[in-house]
Amino acid sequence: MIVVTGATGNVGSSAVRELVRAGQPVRAFVRDREKGRALLGGRVELAVGDLGDEEAIRRAVTGADALLVSTADGPDKPAWEMRLIDEAARAGVGRVVKVSTVLAEAGSPLPTFDWNGLAEDHLRATGLPWTILRSCFYMTNFLAWAEPIAGQGVLPAPAGEGKVATIDPADTGAVASVVLTRDGHAGMTYTLSGPEAITFGAAAEELSAVLGREVRFVDVPEESVVGQLRGTGAPEWLVVHLPRVFRLIREGSLSGVTTTVRDLLGRGPRTFGEFVRDHAAAFGASVPAG
Ligand SMILES: NC(=O)c1ccc[n+]([C@@H]2O[C@H](COP(=O)([O-])OP(=O)(O)OC[C@H]3O[C@@H](n4cnc5c(N)ncnc54)[C@H](OP(=O)(O)O)[C@@H]3O)[C@@H](O)[C@H]2O)c1
Repeated sequence: MIVVTGATGNVGSSAVRELVRAGQPVRAFVRDREKGRALLGGRVELAVGDLGDEEAIRRAVTGADALLVSTADGPDKPAWEMRLIDEAARAGVGRVVKVSTVLAEAGSPLPTFDWNGLAEDHLRATGLPWTILRSCFYMTNFLAWAEPIAGQGVLPAPAGEGKVATIDPADTGAVASVVLTRDGHAGMTYTLSGPEAITFGAAAEELSAVLGREVRFVDVPEESVVGQLRGTGAPEWLVVHLPRVFRLIREGSLSGVTTTVRDLLGRGPRTFGEFVRDHAAAFGASVPAG
């Protein structure tokens, strides 16, 4: 039995789909039964609970052969993940795979890098057979600009000419399904990227090509992102985190391309164009994008 947490999220739902396709038994940890059933279908066992509920975690991991640790970002993340890891150790789970980020490091000034780093360190110290998947900037982050892209045909971001090796989190989920079920990945920290590093200008060109109308990249000052996040009531950690992520993008620190997705899946990572086609409706396409 393979337990997947964050199973209704970008990575978790993809991992569940791939595991089901491969005929593996899956127990999906979800906090909303209806959402879980609608998204994941009837072939998946659901364990309903909150990541903050110790008893629910204990029940979910009992009897599991493998566990995927993928949780939402936020200040509770390290505590949630450490508890999942401790309960997996207690239950004798045979493999634990953690979804993490490039540049994860305990003590990083970027909150999600810090939280992922803390949980990585905890996992490495348990003695459990572990695998860590450190992904680059997810393509799903571009859905945050769906409104200006759909409404005004603009992609406003403080990205400059910086390149980012953005990855479709569906590929992270697909890689997770492989390392959860096959030998030879214990003790490995894999860095995952998309097929190429692209500028936000190139992303706008791709959006234009797929959607069939002009989308322009607008390079905006970092402060405007801070103002916008505060204006929309975003959590303070995100107000701290996001401008720093864009600084890393402008510096080229998120531009590293790896062959890991191809090496582990036997096919190349999904392109940004494929991602946009999949989400064309969200970006305002009224007809199926070509
Ligand atoms: N964004 C990036 O560029 C990036 C890059 C590299 C790594 N990462 C890492 O990738 C990981 C997974 O990302 P993702 O995009 O798949 O996340 P996501 O789509 O936001 O999914 C989060 C999942 O956690 C669940 N969840 C949230 N709060 C919960 C709670 N209290 N109890 C139970 N479940 C709860 C959500 O359930 P609901 O559906 O019910 O909300 C959802 O299934 C994150 O840890 C992030 O650090 C992100």
